[in-house]
Amino acid sequence: MPDENLSLGDLIDMQIRTSGPMSIAAYMGLCLTHPTRGYYRKADPLGAGGDFITAPEISQMFGEMIGGWIADLYLQMGSPARITLLELGPGRGTLMADALRVAGRVPGFSDALALALYETNPDLKAIQAERLKPFDPTFVSEPEDISDAPVIVVANEFFDALPIRQFVQRGGKWFERMVGLAEGRRTFGLSPTPYDGALLGPAFADAPEGAVAEIGLAARQFGERIGRVIGPRGGALLAIDYGYARSQPGETLQALARHRFADPLEVPGEADLTAHVDFEALGDALRMAGLSIAPLVPQGDFLTSLGITARCEALARANPAEAGALTGALRRLTHPDEMGVLFKAFCAASPGLKPAGF
Ligand SMILES: C[S@@+](CC[C@H](N)C(=O)[O-])C[C@H]1O[C@@H](n2cnc3c(N)ncnc32)[C@H](O)[C@@H]1O
Repeated sequence: MPDENLSLGDLIDMQIRTSGPMSIAAYMGLCLTHPTRGYYRKADPLGAGGDFITAPEISQMFGEMIGGWIADLYLQMGSPARITLLELGPGRGTLMADALRVAGRVPGFSDALALALYETNPDLKAIQAERLKPFDPTFVSEPEDISDAPVIVVANEFFDALPIRQFVQRGGKWFERMVGLAEGRRTFGLSPTPYDGALLGPAFADAPEGAVAEIGLAARQFGERIGRVIGPRGGALLAIDYGYARSQPGETLQALARHRFADPLEVPGEADLTAHVDFEALGDALRMAGLSIAPLVPQGDFLTSLGITARCEALARANPAEAGALTGALRRLTHPDEMGVLFKAFCAASPGLKPAGF
């Protein structure tokens, strides 16, 4: 069969048949960013008609709060004549459009701004280019491709999309979990060779039989790169995502398609694959560049301390017909039973800066 008629699942199965089982990181990498069939290389996955909805798509209030956060940091930095705002995985550009409406009110900010976007999905790039046209964005192939001006990096639900590896404890040794084939079907199995444990920190030392260590190696490496970008320039990273504060055993790999959980092995490239972010490991990676890591804050507390309740009331007064929808969105973003606790705000900043909300 010619290659173009093969699905990503066919290609993955062929690779397994030829080269043997692949790590979960290799499998996730293919599923998400295969050049032609990867989930994030295809049409827009966001919103009610897509596979999932993100905070900025729920309400303008989310991006507006981040705009206030950016503006505050810009003022703390002494209103530099040039500032780069780099967004990782900007989706539909909604967060940035809402944020810049607010940050642009600060004297000097708009003239100083160079907007840089780091994105893999061509369809989303086109949407971002259109949406953010007034701010003349530059698409960067690498986060390092920015000027030497101070930089503020924003990432909402970006780090959870980076591939993870999993290791399983068996008889006092760790074995990597792999994706292989059994009776023609994709299945999880264990590498026959014990893993030397190089990536496993003290949190996994006394893990019991059967424990799973999930290592977000790509997120750590990306964090190190972002640290090296921010360190010499000065600035901060704000990352909002689902994740945990301390490295710990457990498995969080999940697939989402059409707003429902799916089997991660079933339809490669058709479902979003994510894993919760290990914020301790991400913090360690950024600390290497001399940045200070703020204590992790639940999204609900973060948005509330930035003033989202007052913003909701003001919007509701101005649009009484929308009051119910606005209150619903506020609840969705901040309530502990919704996104308020599951999602966390993480910040790494140059020493001396005091990021709002942390
Ligand atoms: C879950 S979406 C979040 C989008 C947006 N931040 C929001 O909150 O609506 C993940 C974003 O990261 C992008 N992305 C995923 N993996 C990427 C990668 N390896 N490199 C660059 N962008 C990536 C996706 O295309 C998408 O824009």
